[in-house]
Amino acid sequence: MRYVNIPHTELNPSRVCLGSNRFGTLIKEPNAFALLDTFLEMGANFIDTAHIYADWIKGAQKSASEKTIGKWLKRSGNRDRVVLATKGGHPSLSTTHLHRMSKDEITRDLNDSLTNLQTEVIDLYWLHRDATDVPVEDIIEIFNDQVQAGKIRYFGCSNWSVERISAANSYAQNNDLQGFVASQLWWSLAQPNRAALTSPESQVVFGIKEAEFHRKSEMAVIPYSTQGKGFFSKLDKLGEKGLNDTDRDSFINDLNNHRSTQIKRLAKKYDVPVSHIVLSYLISQPFVTIPIIGSRTLDQLKDSLFAVNLILKSEEIANLSDPSINPKNARQRVKL
Ligand SMILES: NC(=O)c1ccc[n+]([C@@H]2O[C@H](COP(=O)([O-])OP(=O)(O)OC[C@H]3O[C@@H](n4cnc5c(N)ncnc54)[C@H](OP(=O)(O)O)[C@@H]3O)[C@@H](O)[C@H]2O)c1
Repeated sequence: MRYVNIPHTELNPSRVCLGSNRFGTLIKEPNAFALLDTFLEMGANFIDTAHIYADWIKGAQKSASEKTIGKWLKRSGNRDRVVLATKGGHPSLSTTHLHRMSKDEITRDLNDSLTNLQTEVIDLYWLHRDATDVPVEDIIEIFNDQVQAGKIRYFGCSNWSVERISAANSYAQNNDLQGFVASQLWWSLAQPNRAALTSPESQVVFGIKEAEFHRKSEMAVIPYSTQGKGFFSKLDKLGEKGLNDTDRDSFINDLNNHRSTQIKRLAKKYDVPVSHIVLSYLISQPFVTIPIIGSRTLDQLKDSLFAVNLILKSEEIANLSDPSINPKNARQRVKL
């Protein structure tokens, strides 16, 4: 396994992070435990969860993912072996237009998460969403208080614009405070159409602005939905006609058509499945990236962990990044 330092922290997680939004619900506890055990046995150590996972499932126990991970950490005695990340401050699912980013709301979520995860401290705490009417100064102060209180070690922002991240980190720097150490947002070679996003008004998709920002700032990106729900693997196996309506509506666009050809060519060249090219594209960027993997099965988990060994060349990355680099290849018409 390969590891990487998250700049401005003492955290040295594995090159991939295990996503867990279905743990304790669609992925039942014994299967979640098997995924977690195998992840650690193969040398990986970085786990991502959230206070809200997966409260949208009817009849689910509240914070089922955190509770499942907490139970596993307690039972296995593995707390010291993992870099543990969770998120809070997500709007209530019944009132998504109202933010929950006050000091009281964030503190309540964090205290709940510590209990659910059966731990005294979170290594990397994420603010799950943003609301632009909340001053960045307030957010930075709230999280520095939590660092001082010893409840979190570092914090990051999920689904934030680069403008807001810059403003928050400038305030932190000017006031000798800790700033955001990483950004978590949607980033996959499988460029999503609007239909792919569960909350398009509050999710942020990695684009050209983000690439420039992270290249300059060297701030880490810890992207989610990195396999685009397995889109390129399914397209490779089944062809466009074999896709279900959801995958077709979510990911069929000119950019992905162009990328599919490139991905298949590289998969052949390196003799690996297309899923490896999709992950290694993210790992091979010129700034620190730690893709979150959404493994449903042990086979998918092992496949993703093997992908970290492949580093693509910069010209291969450039060719996959944006068809405008080579306008003869494709037209970009992404329905966002
Ligand atoms: N911060 C946020 O707002 C946010 C939002 C979304 C997710 N997340 C985090 O990111 C994690 C992953 O998100 P996601 O589920 O959307 O990720 P994803 O990896 O894009 O999608 C997961 C699906 O991709 C397919 N897949 C996974 N590994 C594969 C492999 N090696 N080969 C072929 N297909 C593979 C599987 O599809 P099949 O099931 O069809 O086989 C799997 O269910 C979540 O668990 C959560 O921790 C964060």
